[in-house]
Amino acid sequence: MRAPLIAGNWKMNGSKRDARALLGGVAAGAASLQGAEVAVCPPFPYLALGEAELADSVVCLGAQDVSTESAGAYTGEVAAAMLAEFGCRYVICGHSERRDYHAESDTLIARKLQAVIANGMRPILCVGETLEQRERGETEAVIGAQLDGVLGVVGIETFADLELAYEPVWAIGTGKTATPAQAQQVHAFVRAKLGVSDRRIAQGVRILYGGSMKPGNAAELLAQPDIDGGLIGGASLDVDDFLAICRAAE
Ligand code: G3H
Repeated sequence: MRAPLIAGNWKMNGSKRDARALLGGVAAGAASLQGAEVAVCPPFPYLALGEAELADSVVCLGAQDVSTESAGAYTGEVAAAMLAEFGCRYVICGHSERRDYHAESDTLIARKLQAVIANGMRPILCVGETLEQRERGETEAVIGAQLDGVLGVVGIETFADLELAYEPVWAIGTGKTATPAQAQQVHAFVRAKLGVSDRRIAQGVRILYGGSMKPGNAAELLAQPDIDGGLIGGASLDVDDFLAICRAAE
């Protein structure tokens, strides 16, 4: 019912040469995949390269962030319409690194979702708790508040037009993965929470897991009933590792 999506978030890594090689390798390897959707989200300067290299491939292009504004005097910002022009299908919104290093609020993130959707693309909305919050038993409260902060601005209907990603902050880039049971528990919580507002939308929304997903743990995570794909950081920088995760999703 929910086709799995594996999305690579390259973050601020690589060179133009690396990007070309990675795009070409993923495009070639993904051609034989059946049943898993694949996306890559390079840094902004490499989106034009992504558009060209992925033109004849099944791999979708995505961006890592977007401005809430549509045009004007916003130095350093990138408008959603610009991302759409380069063929982006997905835009990551509210990644924990943006929430942390750039103090992004739920309200700001909600406005980014609106900008992305208004320009015909799909946001990948990230939520997740820190280690301290998990240890205090606040995981569901934190994620519930992150969802409520967005829902209060955009409404449940918007969740028909986006993907979610549960990324425990303590598992990002640390090599510590949530166990399949831990991840499933949070994914089920998210779906149940959305289901209170709209059961159909809750059943349809794809919830990706992100946080040290690797070829060695992907199959077990992706086998969980409410895990509908992965948002892959470090392992998306290696063609073989990334494609192995994609194959685990088939
Ligand atoms: O967006 C991706 C996540 O932050 C996961 O990163 O796979 O390097 O832990 P990671």
